[in-house]
Amino acid sequence: MEQMRRKRSWPVIGSTVDYVRDPQRLFTRQWNQFGPVSQISFLGKPWAILLGPDACEAVLTNRDKAFASGAGWVEAAGPFFGRGLMFLDFAEHHLHRRIMQQAFTRDRLEGYTARMQSTIAAGIDGWKESPDFRAYPALKQLTLDVAAEIFMGGAEHTSPEDMERINRAFVDCLQAATGIMRRDVPFTRWRRGTRGREVLDDFLREYLPARRAHEGDDLFSILCHIETDAGERFSDDDVIDHMVFLMMAAHDTSTITLSTMMQYLGQHPAWQQRLREEATHLGDAPTLAELDALTSFDLVMKECLRLVAPVPVLARKTVKATAVLGVHIPADHFALVAPHFSHHMSEYWTNPAQFDPERFAEPRLEHKSHRHAWDPFGGGVHKCLGMFFAGGEVASVLHHILRRFEWTVDPDYQVPMNYHSLPFPHDGQPVHLRRI
Ligand code: HEM
Repeated sequence: MEQMRRKRSWPVIGSTVDYVRDPQRLFTRQWNQFGPVSQISFLGKPWAILLGPDACEAVLTNRDKAFASGAGWVEAAGPFFGRGLMFLDFAEHHLHRRIMQQAFTRDRLEGYTARMQSTIAAGIDGWKESPDFRAYPALKQLTLDVAAEIFMGGAEHTSPEDMERINRAFVDCLQAATGIMRRDVPFTRWRRGTRGREVLDDFLREYLPARRAHEGDDLFSILCHIETDAGERFSDDDVIDHMVFLMMAAHDTSTITLSTMMQYLGQHPAWQQRLREEATHLGDAPTLAELDALTSFDLVMKECLRLVAPVPVLARKTVKATAVLGVHIPADHFALVAPHFSHHMSEYWTNPAQFDPERFAEPRLEHKSHRHAWDPFGGGVHKCLGMFFAGGEVASVLHHILRRFEWTVDPDYQVPMNYHSLPFPHDGQPVHLRRI
């Protein structure tokens, strides 16, 4: 069996800076030099880096149960979302996932989508025309408002100041996950993240008894009441951990998807018009079933998730020694799987750098060239539980934008992406926004 090969790099810093600057460049270098399985030094530790759909498949199907998600993600993202679903493994994960699936049934998703329409419409009505409208922060605010409504909807007695404090705490947790200093030292992002998590815990714990007492249709309340056929339920601590993680999982991912869509639709006005025509047949409060039937929207969303994977890498840690594609990975070793790299491989995609939504349509169906060529939602037992929620939310937001505004983006614009955490545009994603 082969041993993992690695390039010499700086101690401690290793390839972290290369990753933050341009992960695709780092992955391409590793792939060209060492193939699908090699080693890098990342966040001060050695990590196996697993590239291409075959390596993705081996890790995500995890046949010999060698890869754990929790320990990998705690190392990559910190302890702030610990014991959320993605941080659990094996039997415990299986049980929690079975319970949580009850919060994402088709009926529930229809309910969430119906409920978010007025929040989204009100948010976008407040947008102002501008030749230099910063789409990313506006979309981030919107998805935060949607999360507050859908996840905590019943916290209506909370003052706007309290809500602001909660949002701040939540953002502190997200930012801490990517701080360079990864220890609880005063004045660091890490310290603010630790405080932020305490604020979120206290806030949720205060409202929890009311949610236990009355079943509402917000996610917080739903998590308090759902159970499996065998009567398994979440404890109070579970509900809080799952809430904090779900807010994180749902937030930046949907925001970057929308911002990428605004960029490419601004650069490809014919596609924007095609989506607008689809949208005009629906009213101002579309149902999930109506949104699901939007075929052009679906192609564009798939293509944007390919071009900019909101979760470019997935973190794992081996619980025992294993081999991937004939290369040995020792026990207790961190591993990164990189769907983002697969999304740009010319072996599976024609002109991968080009925006070309038709590649997902008959007869091309390029995403079917390999089961793991297109993995923006991951795969295997940890595959995103919120992917249909995300589809409904992204479609709803875009629907309301298309009905109210048109926009353009310079065709030569290249997004300056920041990869410190999940990807986001440094410059806030400027677009020229005009009311219709
Ligand atoms: C476009 C938006 C989204 C993308 C691209 C995305 C992507 C992902 C990916 C790649 C994973 C797998 C991580 C891994 O295997 O290590 C994941 C897991 C997860 N996502 Fe999403 N996500 C999105 C939106 C959402 C939303 C809106 C929610 C909830 C409302 C959500 C809830 C979850 C949960 C609960 C997990 C953990 C599943 C498990 O471990 O069993 N996600 N997501």
